[in-house]
Amino acid sequence: MPLCLDEIVIWSRSFNEYINFLALSENDLQKKILAVADGASSFNYEAKIRGYDVTSLDPLYKFSPLEIKEQIIKSCNQIYPQIVKNKNDYNWLYFKSPDHLKEYRMNVMENFLDDFVIKESKSKYIGGEIQNLPFKKMSFDIAIVANFLFLYSDRLDLNFHIQSLTDLLEVANEIRVFPLQGNLQNSPKYIIPVINHFKNLGFLAGVKRVNYHFTKGANKVLIIKKK
Ligand SMILES: C[S@@+](CC[C@H](N)C(=O)[O-])C[C@H]1O[C@@H](n2cnc3c(N)ncnc32)[C@H](O)[C@@H]1O
Repeated sequence: MPLCLDEIVIWSRSFNEYINFLALSENDLQKKILAVADGASSFNYEAKIRGYDVTSLDPLYKFSPLEIKEQIIKSCNQIYPQIVKNKNDYNWLYFKSPDHLKEYRMNVMENFLDDFVIKESKSKYIGGEIQNLPFKKMSFDIAIVANFLFLYSDRLDLNFHIQSLTDLLEVANEIRVFPLQGNLQNSPKYIIPVINHFKNLGFLAGVKRVNYHFTKGANKVLIIKKK
């Protein structure tokens, strides 16, 4: 995946979306959470307000707030027309319309930026990549990955997925990933080989239907944990 800011598309989700699409219960939220590829989402910020312990990791955090803000505006100009054009690919329940979605996403990103600029937040936003996790073994209870693995399966192969999930299981007891489908109609499908790989190694691995269904077909979370 790119490290060049220009190639990172920023289109961010909120705390409420995260808890719905990752099926995070109050009990889960009490645990130590690592949010990988967390981008400009407001999950960390909103979790902090509620007293939860979340650390985010993303190559985006190596850039300055101003650079990120410029990329947010560029990304929005790129994505919004695509959403309008492909409106039928989405269920318009959580969001009422493309305009509502755009306003919601921009608010999420403003919340992220407000938190990202403050000195006290520095240790909670780690600039890094999933291939090289800068954490000690079992530093977290749950590692979550939203809108990165599986979504870019046209660019990231099965080996990348298995290696990334293996590395995450070194630093967390449990992993949750959403969504499980690629963003292209003909994206490779990795979910079954991934589940089989981890089951064969003795992990509990499976898919659970979630209470969030915006992109058609994307309503399941992958959960992998130690027995
Ligand atoms: C579509 S965004 C998802 C952001 C957030 N999780 C959400 O759901 O709103 C994908 C994120 O993956 C990040 N990313 C790209 N390459 C990465 C890598 N090698 N390791 C970790 N994150 C990466 C990007 O910077 C970007 O923020």
